Amino acid sequence: FQPKLFTGKRMLITAGPTQETIDPVRVITNHSSGKMGYSLARAAIEMGAEVTLVSGPVALQAPAGANTIHVTSAQEMLAAVEAHLKDQDIFISVAAVADYRPIQVSQHKIKKNTAPLTLTLEATPDILATIASRDDAPFCVGFAAESENMLQYAEEKRRRKRLPLIAANIASEALGRDQSSLVLLDDEGIHPLPQAPKLTLARGLLQHVAAMLDKSQAA
Ligand code: C5P
Repeated sequence: FQPKLFTGKRMLITAGPTQETIDPVRVITNHSSGKMGYSLARAAIEMGAEVTLVSGPVALQAPAGANTIHVTSAQEMLAAVEAHLKDQDIFISVAAVADYRPIQVSQHKIKKNTAPLTLTLEATPDILATIASRDDAPFCVGFAAESENMLQYAEEKRRRKRLPLIAANIASEALGRDQSSLVLLDDEGIHPLPQAPKLTLARGLLQHVAAMLDKSQAA
């Protein structure tokens, strides 16, 4: 049983990787199963929220009760997030967005030979930073998958992207796994969530969000 901490609240969640097209058969992408984002959507629904899930390509079933929107690229994900941002109370950006995309998409399959191939890439939009910097931004939560200096890099990201809360983990312990652990970082410090199934971590993260919202409303 989960307390209905989010009754009447609207939550927007991004999940999964994005894919950036190189040519008709090739893409640039990230390792991401979508399990953490989908678990958050499930937990949020259990806790009474109205959930919109914007998902990159994953092999998971859409969570029952969520409004799930499927996208492929970072640009499409940003457009879907912006189109559904109105009246959202909380935005949780779990997606492993590809940071770069080819400047030019080849209309035909690039022929291979033994010579090195150079692709010129440009940065994709930072969806979370874009949303968090808006005047009408909902309560924004980020994720940081790091391979080293986890706490330092996550805290730098939290400040750079102007987030009240970020959830950090070690990429090799989280990506594709059913279980993981998280460290939550906010203005008050660090809050570890020990190794557990992702649905359990999702509930713990959402309880923390509910407590932060409660506090900010009481202030
Ligand atoms: O900067 P970095 O990619 O490590 O930040 C991770 C956080 O930012 C995650 O919450 C991710 O969903 C979000 N992000 C984003 N758009 C990008 C890159 C990351 O929303 N282009």
